[in-house]
Amino acid sequence: KRIGLLFGGRSAEHEVSRLSAANVLRALDPDRYDIVPIGIGRDGRWLLCDSGNGGGRGAKSLEIPEGAPQVALLPGGAGEMMVLNGGSGSSTLRLDAVVPVLHGPNGEDGTVQGFLELANIPYVGSGVMGSAAAMDKDVAKRLLRDSGLPVVPFLTLTPGTRADYRAAMDALGTPDLFVKPANMGSSVGVSRASSPEEFAKACEKAFRYDAKVLVERSVTGAREIECSVLENAAGDIKASPLGEIVPAGSHGFYSYDAKYIDADGALLRIPAELTADQARRIQELAVETFKVLGCEALARVDFFVDPKSEDSLFINEVNTLPGFTAISMYPKLWEAGGLPQSELMEVLIGHAIA
Ligand code: DAL
Ligand code: MG
Repeated sequence: KRIGLLFGGRSAEHEVSRLSAANVLRALDPDRYDIVPIGIGRDGRWLLCDSGNGGGRGAKSLEIPEGAPQVALLPGGAGEMMVLNGGSGSSTLRLDAVVPVLHGPNGEDGTVQGFLELANIPYVGSGVMGSAAAMDKDVAKRLLRDSGLPVVPFLTLTPGTRADYRAAMDALGTPDLFVKPANMGSSVGVSRASSPEEFAKACEKAFRYDAKVLVERSVTGAREIECSVLENAAGDIKASPLGEIVPAGSHGFYSYDAKYIDADGALLRIPAELTADQARRIQELAVETFKVLGCEALARVDFFVDPKSEDSLFINEVNTLPGFTAISMYPKLWEAGGLPQSELMEVLIGHAIA
């Protein structure tokens, strides 16, 4: 089978995607798959990366070489991708499936998924609707709340809404607030605010990334618990063992730097220390969340657990193309559940081409 590995992209998570893609490449069995790495540049062009050219197996991060041939998908085709060679004409390459290892807007939000649908190429992960619903934190939280699932109290700001700290504080019932762009990942543009000045700055920063901004109640001292969800080709949906993010050092929350820059920024504790009842409840909620948002194949569902009240559980967010770097929670939780990364990729590709 010829598998296109799509990575990079125009979102602020471009670098993270290149790290994830290097790790996915390592997990794909070269005897089973003919892997075609396709890098999306920051300008949005799709470039055919030679897997020997800095994009090879064993690299920590996949490169997108300058001057690589551009590729284009054919709407209504039979899964062909055109390779444009400039002056000397073009050729086509048939893909059996694509693994989109893209995080954030223009990759995790249904846009690339729609593009692949039009080109008749099967792909790993959620379709257009599930991707879009999970990417937009405002839409996701409204759907979850409407299904009676527990989400952290929030309100949504648009450029027309006046961002007022007192009003937000009164509405959400705490002086500690989180401000985040609605459509972003890896904590890009996220800040904590506990004064009018901090709030104004946090809003300004979040609006740099999106025209819609979420203000959430900060659950003081909350534990952050994550669950990986996997659907196989037969449609069976399973939840993994749970992991906990333990912020370390000077990082007050699981920020971008704590995730990817500072090697000691956080610890992943697998399995998370929870009672059997708590763990079962979180796993059930993870699967329910996956279904409510219309996700397919994979997602990581992130929770807050309020340590002051044992039953206080909130769904924080859903990632339909979760981080897949060598240190990422999604593959690590499945490893803890007895599924090595190469077998995880088999299940995902099996689901895509079923
Ligand atoms: N958005 C990042 C990649 C994650 O959720 O893991
Ligand atoms: Mg995320």
